[in-house]
Amino acid sequence: MSRKLPETLFSEAQIAQRVDEIAAQISSDYAGKGEIVLLGVLKGAFIFLADISRRLTIPRSIEFIAVSNYEHGSTPSGAVRLVMDVRESIQGRHVIVVEDIVDTGQTIHYLIDMLKSRGPASIRTCVLLHKEHKTEIDVDIDYLGFTIDDEWVVGYGLDFAEHDRTLPYIGVVKPDD
Ligand code: PRP
Repeated sequence: MSRKLPETLFSEAQIAQRVDEIAAQISSDYAGKGEIVLLGVLKGAFIFLADISRRLTIPRSIEFIAVSNYEHGSTPSGAVRLVMDVRESIQGRHVIVVEDIVDTGQTIHYLIDMLKSRGPASIRTCVLLHKEHKTEIDVDIDYLGFTIDDEWVVGYGLDFAEHDRTLPYIGVVKPDD
């Protein structure tokens, strides 16, 4: 049985334009500073990171980290757990943490604290979506795609119970879909 496709919140074209703008800003901010490390947070950031990284005009290397904080389906447990660490050291390097979404802020807060203790030259954040009104902790987002309301969004890397991650646009899942 086919199901209804999620309603579009941001189209492919809107996402591509915003990704272009962010990549241009990062390229300009880090020009002449050597290689940066784009550190993607799995799984959600894999598509955003792939697109951002290919649009940069500065030297960059790619790392991934995996954490988990929604241990029981979609209910936040409050505990962030490191599931997979980076492969190369970030000490003395310029790091940009790339996330698909900041919701409560727990994940990015945990990550920034942990990564800062490893002595990077600098650390910034690049986030596609921010649920501003749900964020409970002070988080610094240096490069932001879009601010959104408290809706369940899917596509472009984001999932609902592992569904719809590869949808090319960002859509909203309604309870009766
Ligand atoms: C999502 C998202 C962020 C985190 C944001 O990850 O990718 O990492 O939740 O939520 P927070 O601000 O409330 O901490 P999720 O645990 O769903 O895993 P996934 O990226 O593998 O889908």
